[in-house]
Amino acid sequence: MKICFTGNAPIDVEVEPGSSIAAAARAASIEQKYPCRGYGRCGTCIVNIESGAENLSQPNESESRVLRILKANSGQRLACQALANDDVVCRF
Ligand code: FES
Repeated sequence: MKICFTGNAPIDVEVEPGSSIAAAARAASIEQKYPCRGYGRCGTCIVNIESGAENLSQPNESESRVLRILKANSGQRLACQALANDDVVCRF
């Protein structure tokens, strides 16, 4: 399966099911900061899901809380918390 990052330098990353979007971004050497080290607390890794949202894990309690605080829209997730089980297209 793959996670595709769109934007200025589009790139597709082959990952194992259950991989986080953050792990795929790191594998693709996408420059993105993770101040809370991927614990779903800071919201810095918020990402726009362009397609394949149904292939992501449901937001856990921590992610839901941060998304609420950030007033995120329904197409946004935390890259460090969203685990992909099939193809996803997203953009930081
Ligand atoms: S790195 Fe802090 S919420 Fe994802």
